[in-house]
Parts: sequence; C-alpha cells; structure tokens
Amino acid sequence: MVATTLLAFYGTGTAALATSVVKLRQRLELSQAKHKSLAGHSRLARRIAALVPFYDYGDDRFFSSDGAPPEIADRRRQALARLSALYKTRFAETIARTAEASAGISDLQFTDAYRVPFQYRRLVRDALPAAGFVQSSHGVTVTDLDGNRFCDLSGSYGVNLFGYDFYKGAIERGAAQVRELGPALGPYHPLIIENAKLLRQISGLDEVSFHMSGTEAVMQAVRLARYHTGRSHLVRFCGAYHGWWGDVQPGIGNPVPAHETYTLTDMAEETLRVLRTRRNIACVLVNPLQALHPNASAPSDSALVDSSRRVHFDKDAYAEWLRRLRQICTEKSIVLIFDEVFVGFRLAKGGAQDYFGVRADLVTYGKTLGGGLPVGVVCGRGDLMKRFRDDRPADICFARGTFNAHPYVMAAMNEFLRYLQTPQADALYRGLDTIWNERARQLNRRLAAAALPVEVANMSSIWTVCYTAPSRYNWMLQYYLRAEGLALSWIGTGRLIFSFNYSDEDFAAVAERFVAAAAAMQRDGWWWRGPALTDKAIRRTIMKEMIVHHLFSPRQRQRD
Ligand SMILES: Cc1ncc(COP(=O)(O)O)c(C=O)c1O
Repeated sequence: MVATTLLAFYGTGTAALATSVVKLRQRLELSQAKHKSLAGHSRLARRIAALVPFYDYGDDRFFSSDGAPPEIADRRRQALARLSALYKTRFAETIARTAEASAGISDLQFTDAYRVPFQYRRLVRDALPAAGFVQSSHGVTVTDLDGNRFCDLSGSYGVNLFGYDFYKGAIERGAAQVRELGPALGPYHPLIIENAKLLRQISGLDEVSFHMSGTEAVMQAVRLARYHTGRSHLVRFCGAYHGWWGDVQPGIGNPVPAHETYTLTDMAEETLRVLRTRRNIACVLVNPLQALHPNASAPSDSALVDSSRRVHFDKDAYAEWLRRLRQICTEKSIVLIFDEVFVGFRLAKGGAQDYFGVRADLVTYGKTLGGGLPVGVVCGRGDLMKRFRDDRPADICFARGTFNAHPYVMAAMNEFLRYLQTPQADALYRGLDTIWNERARQLNRRLAAAALPVEVANMSSIWTVCYTAPSRYNWMLQYYLRAEGLALSWIGTGRLIFSFNYSDEDFAAVAERFVAAAAAMQRDGWWWRGPALTDKAIRRTIMKEMIVHHLFSPRQRQRD
C-alpha cells in the first residue's frame, strides 16, 4: 500500500518535472526567437517608451547638436531662415489652411508632430510649418493650394499604382455602373460576382470576403485562423506593419499589451524552432514588404536620429525563407497568411505569392484594389473561410461590417480588376524590377558622383533613402526635397512609393530634383562631419541627454 502510494507520488513528481522542463525549454526557445532590437520586445519597448522624457533644443543646440563649430552652425542657421522664407511665401496658402484645420483634426496634429526627431520639432515647426493640403492630381503630380506642382513620391500610402488619372477614371466609371443602386447595402450589386471570380483567379484561392480596410481584412484573417485551428496565438515578425488593430501592434502605439501575439525574428532558424514546438500557434502573418528591411519597423524620419538605417533586399533569400515557413506551417497545421495589403499587385500581377513563388492559405489585399476607394479583402482556402460549423450551429466566427461590399467600392474595384486583365496592364508589369532597379542605380550613380552621403535602396517600385555618413540632420532632406518639388508622405524619406506611370522622362526630373536637394543640403552644412562623429557617438549623446532630462527636468521632479 505504502509502496503503491510512493510510486504514484514519484510518478506524478516525475511527470510534473518533465512538463516543467518542456515548458522551460519552450520559454527559452521563445526568448531566443525574439529579435534583439527593442522592436523585438514589445512590452519592454512600451515600458521604455513611457520613460523617454520630452526635451527640445533651443537655438544654439539645434544647429550644433553634432558638435559642429560656430561657422557651420551659422551656415545652417542662415540656411534654415532662407528655407523658411521660401516655404512661407511659396506654400503660404497651403500652410495657412493646414494651421487653421490642425486645431480640430487630431490626425493632422499627430502627423505634424512626428516628422522629425522630437528634440528638433519646435524650431522645425516654426520655420517649416506643415503644408498638408493638395487640391488636384494629374499624371505623376499633385498640386497644392498655392498652385505648386510636385512629383508625387508618397504613392498615397501605396494605393497609387497606375497613376491618379487611372483611379479618377475607375471611380467615375464605377459610379456610373452602380448609380441606379446607389448606397443600398445588404444585398449585393451583381458586379461583385466578377470581382469574386477575378480575385479567386488572381489569388489562386477558393473564396473571398470583403471589408472596409486593410486592418479589418487582417483582423478577419487572424480570427478565421484562430477559429479553425482552435489555437490562440498569432505570430508576426519583428518590425512588420499589419494595420493598427491591437493584436498586430503589440508594441509602441498600443496602450495595452497584446497577450496572444508572438513577435519573432524574421528569417531566423530560432523562429522555425518555435513554430515547430509550440502547440498554441494559430497563424503566421507575413508582410512581404519586410523583405526590404527584415526585422525593422517602417522607416520614419522622426526616428532618423543618426545614419544607421540599413536595408538590403535579397529576393532569393526571402523566397527561400517563405518556402521554409510554408513547409513548417503545412506540417504543423498553422495557417500561413500573406498580408499583401501593401505589396499585392505592386510586385507582380499575382502579388507576392507569384513574385516569391510561395502559396499562402489566406491572403489579405487592400489599398489599390479598391480602385481608389477604401477596401480590404481576404482570399482563402474554402475550409478556412467558412464561418460556421455544420455540426455545431452555435459555434460561429462572426464578421460583418455595415459598409462591406459597398456598391461604389465594388464598382471601382471592378474597374481595377478588369484593367488588370488588359494587355496595357501586362505591358506595365513587364520588366518591372529591371526598370526600377536601373532607375535606383542611375540615381545612386549621380549621388555618388556628386559625393553626397545619400543613397537609395529599393524593392521594385518601393524605395527608401539611406545615409552613408553619420549625421544628426538627415531628416532635413525631406524639407529640401519639398523645396525642389518632390512630395513625400509624412514619414519622410524612409519610404518613397512610385506609381507605374512614371516615364523615363518623369523619373529623370525626379532624379534631377533629388540630387539638387541633396546638394543644397550639403552646401548648407547639415552634413558637416567632425572626426568624432559616429552613429554610436550620436546615440550615446542622445542617451545621455535623455537620462539627464529624465532625472532633472522640472516636470519629472514634480511627478516624483
Ligand atoms: C501590410 C499592411 N497591412 C495592413 C495595412 C492596414 O491597411 P489600412 O490602412 O487600409 O487599414 C497596411 C497599411 O499600410 C499595410 O501596409
């Protein structure tokens, strides 16, 4: 009797120990699969972000925060005054209207605040106020309220693929197709049948669902994966953007932690090990844009504190990574989701699946697919798209949305999808990478020939600007580019998005202006470099400033 009890006791103890060891090993594997940057540690990043104190530079420090001598600081001061005068005359009306609207539109306040590192924000906003309005678009250009025409490099967050005139036509012709129905919602307009058919063809998947935005499409894809696998966790890769829903934005930007999200290292063995061993993973979410900058966040100029931004697009290596992910997801019944909201239709007609030669279980699309109107779409395998169970009628996966499949959106989408089938569209996709790679090379040759510390890197028509010498002022380039007539999005030089209607001549104009802007910035002394200036030294200086301000700023003392 005693022996049996003892045996049972030891048996239970051994089992508990074995379970703990397995759990411990899995925890260790999880930590190893996290990227070592802060972006790889969402909770820590949020905690540290909450500690960063605000402080800013006064007139002196603003111009010499890199240790530049007085004559360089003076040159910069004069340059900023000149640029400011130019902005305030050339963009007067646009600036005035932006200022008028800003007090009542929170988004304008936010984007305006996050154009440059915060230490420089106040003086930059005074000197170079935001000009956030445009009145028209034509060809590859947009025109502001003062009548200035800019070559558009913002790409409207990626929506603008075929040129604004195409989307104006798609919206107009689409509206004509559904005018009789108007905004009646619930029952569909019949042209949705063709949309679903074409989307199934393009994605190679069985079914389609329509949503109002890319964010919603991602929410639905993840919800379906959780529903069908019965597992809780989603895996996203470090730095990847998938919209602003909490579960896919576990770090800075989301006020609460995302408990059922693993943020793992892109292109890493350790990640594959976690996928192989954890049993609670419902899906892996891939944003193929990360191939351009694996494990790094969207490169905004407000984070451009030094010149350490690096990118390197290796198509073959990323395709191989996706193949390995595909294999493990299949083996472990994890749903592989490609979030093609940004890159879908931009890299290839068949999207990232075709471009990298790997098939996903669910694919999300959005942006350009709406033909210029707001949209999100999920395409997926039939078994994964189903939202109810035949044998369990109360167990459903709910997804609705008042404006889903809005007739006007469906009609503009129909114009987009039908255009994709034309020989003109085929011609646009032919040799796409060669064209954009060559244009990037051309520009880099010119920048190097002029000894400017700037270069571009690209993934097809998506570009980013990198800086080749340490500097604290790289974010100024966005203002010089605007002065030369190049329009960027609010995140600045980190992302330039070209539409396919850029001809060689249009591009030559962009290159000319880009080089002129960088040359002016160089002349004005912003890229002065002392022997002690390294990226590491810059970061160390900023860290010291933060610690000092954290400890000694009056507001902090009050709080303590
Ligand atoms: C890859 C990706 N997924 C999702 C989204 C969110 O789409 P939306 O802004 O339409 O909600 C974006 C937007 O930039 C995106 O790039």
